[in-house]
Amino acid sequence: MFSYLYIIYFFIITIHASSYFSKCPEEDSLRECLDQYHIKGLINFRDNVMAYNNDINFEFNKRIIHFPVAFVHPIDEIDVQSAVKCAIKLNFPITARSGGHSPEGYGLGDKDCYLVVDLRTLNKTTVSITSQTAIVGTGNTLGSLYKELQQYIFAFPAGDSPSVGVGGHMPGGGIGFLNRKFGISSDNILDAQIVLANGTVVYNSKKYPELLWAIRGAGNAGYGIITSLTIKIYPIQKIISSVQLEYDFDHIPSIFSAINQLGSNLHQNLTFTIDFVASQTVVRGIYLGSASELQSCIQEFIKLSRPKRVSYIENDFYNLIINNQEKNDNSKRNKTSEVFKLKSFFINSSGLSYEGIKYWMRFAKSFKCPITTSIVLLGGGRVNEIRRNETAFVHRGFLYLLELVVTLQSEICIQELEIFSKNFQQNYTNFESYQNYVDRNLDNWQCRYYGKNFEKLVEIKQKYDPYNLFHWNQSIPTNTNISCNDIDTTG
Ligand SMILES: Cc1cc2nc3c(=O)[nH]c(=O)nc-3n(C[C@H](O)[C@H](O)[C@H](O)COP(=O)(O)OP(=O)(O)OC[C@H]3O[C@@H](n4cnc5c(N)ncnc54)[C@H](O)[C@@H]3O)c2cc1C
Ligand SMILES: *[C@@H]1O[C@H](CO)[C@@H](O)[C@H](O)[C@H]1NC(C)=O
Ligand SMILES: *[C@@H]1O[C@H](CO)[C@@H](O)[C@H](O)[C@H]1NC(C)=O
Ligand SMILES: *[C@@H]1O[C@H](CO)[C@@H](O)[C@H](O)[C@H]1NC(C)=O
Ligand SMILES: *[C@@H]1O[C@H](CO)[C@@H](O)[C@H](O)[C@H]1NC(C)=O
Ligand SMILES: *[C@@H]1O[C@H](CO)[C@@H](O)[C@H](O)[C@H]1NC(C)=O
Ligand SMILES: *[C@@H]1O[C@H](CO)[C@@H](O)[C@H](O)[C@H]1NC(C)=O
Ligand SMILES: *[C@@H]1O[C@H](CO)[C@@H](O)[C@H](O)[C@H]1NC(C)=O
Ligand SMILES: *[C@@H]1O[C@H](CO)[C@@H](O)[C@H](O)[C@H]1NC(C)=O
Ligand SMILES: *[C@@H]1O[C@H](CO)[C@@H](O)[C@H](O)[C@H]1NC(C)=O
Repeated sequence: MFSYLYIIYFFIITIHASSYFSKCPEEDSLRECLDQYHIKGLINFRDNVMAYNNDINFEFNKRIIHFPVAFVHPIDEIDVQSAVKCAIKLNFPITARSGGHSPEGYGLGDKDCYLVVDLRTLNKTTVSITSQTAIVGTGNTLGSLYKELQQYIFAFPAGDSPSVGVGGHMPGGGIGFLNRKFGISSDNILDAQIVLANGTVVYNSKKYPELLWAIRGAGNAGYGIITSLTIKIYPIQKIISSVQLEYDFDHIPSIFSAINQLGSNLHQNLTFTIDFVASQTVVRGIYLGSASELQSCIQEFIKLSRPKRVSYIENDFYNLIINNQEKNDNSKRNKTSEVFKLKSFFINSSGLSYEGIKYWMRFAKSFKCPITTSIVLLGGGRVNEIRRNETAFVHRGFLYLLELVVTLQSEICIQELEIFSKNFQQNYTNFESYQNYVDRNLDNWQCRYYGKNFEKLVEIKQKYDPYNLFHWNQSIPTNTNISCNDIDTTG
């Protein structure tokens, strides 16, 4: 036991020592270049151990950590431009990080020694009530955005985790509460400010319709560094309501039966998620309206699924989202503690079949690592009223998104998860996967994330980043011989 611990200890020290104190290729030239451009924000190289460490630790998932050459903390788009210009000059790998929630740590690149532009400092939000829009710095979190909008009694459709970053989330989709009423985040991007691979700051990407098309679904996949987004925001009621339904594990088939039957027909003002954690199953809904209206629109669902407890809360949107989060904190924390792996599956309009449910339940019961399954209802909502090629976000027409989050305790868990996921996807779910839940083990990710839109995305990449300055394992490439046209996405 002692010697085993000793080896681990030794190993960690070695990694740290070599990563913190060794130099990256061309590091001196990079320092010189960044100096010449007079970047106003902080720059933390490895020898600035404390600050560099804090920047590393900001990364949410500790499963894969690459050690960058440095973190640049720009104070404006000109600082970002300077960093990009140095990357161009030295052909230095460069990447953007906003909230640090990439499941594969792509905000740090896909190997050591990237130059990371950390956008947390660009966190301004400007709300225009008259035009019902907001200009949001990509360094905001969803929590800070919701909070700001609440002051005006406005809301925005995005994910339910307050610490997720605007910059990585919205341009890749953004699925969560309100998606059935208002669509997903990327549907509501009207414009963007972006620093391109040739070092130009584009202040209004809507002047480049193709670029805007790409940013709405693939804007976190290598078209540049987005410094702010102009989004459409929505006035809502001051007081809205939420519902929580609780079930035992053996009740799961009846929950699926209810969601498969009624999901698409539920009122568009209602969006709900289902979390299956250990032996607990909880349905949580957010409804734009009063609790008594919510009660009547969810009555049929309750009758069919027979929860053991039902509770309603009325409050403002911000408090309901945050409260939900805090109540949920224990399960969320376990579900996303330190080292995790994510898998996503789209389920078509018939819903997951009985055999599919059984297959997944058997796996969840026997699996050795902590696992959480979540479902977000999409069917019958605004998200499905938009055509598959209208934006780069292709996934339309599904009843729900099903995601698995596994806290990894051993390699065996990864292997079992991979085998299960392959079979599950092949036999019971759609071919597509959600690009915001990036997964480096996924085969055919180009077609799974982007479907038929992939080829057009490659053409646009060619135009705006011909030398592939912004690149990592799952960024859009500058050329391809992959064609996603033949894939049937209805089955
Ligand atoms: C705990 C947790 C909860 C989540 N909940 C939801 C949810 O409810 N709904 C949902 O849809 N998704 C959810 N996600 C997924 C999340 O939307 C994506 O992981 C998203 O990409 C994270 O954005 P970020 O800015 O926090 O991450 P980062 O790691 O900073 O960035 C993610 C990717 O985007 C790129 N990027 C970041 N900023 C920019 C920028 N300014 N310009 C260009 N590219 C950029 C990065 O290079 C990286 O490749 C969740 C993830 C986690 C870990
Ligand atoms: C923006 O970032 C600064 C620090 O860089 C912080 O003090 C401030 O609270 C942040 N604002 C919001 C809205 O999060
Ligand atoms: C950079 O690319 C954009 C888009 O193609 C173009 O409009 C702009 O003129 C280019 N800038 C330079 C300096 O070449
Ligand atoms: C649905 O939500 C919208 C926007 O908040 C609101 O105007 C409308 O009255 C709601 N409809 C019902 C039936 O609650
Ligand atoms: C979360 O993890 C803690 C400790 O690892 C455990 O005691 C607790 O039961 C877990 N909670 C859930 C909901 O799984
Ligand atoms: C989407 O496809 C339809 C035909 O299927 C075509 O008419 C339309 O122009 C396309 N839209 C875009 C934005 O490419
Ligand atoms: C599902 O598909 C795999 C191939 O991916 C196959 O081997 C397996 O038998 C199928 N059936 C089930 C129930 O997993
Ligand atoms: C990702 O890219 C790096 C090189 O940048 C490579 O070493 C690694 O094997 C790749 N990982 C996968 C899963 O393809
Ligand atoms: C094209 O396909 C071949 C195999 O079919 C592969 O080896 C090659 O790398 C591919 N090229 C590109 C650019 O994807
Ligand atoms: C949905 O998927 C199932 C199983 O893959 C398939 O049998 C069914 O035909 C699909 N339904 C639709 C409407 O595409």
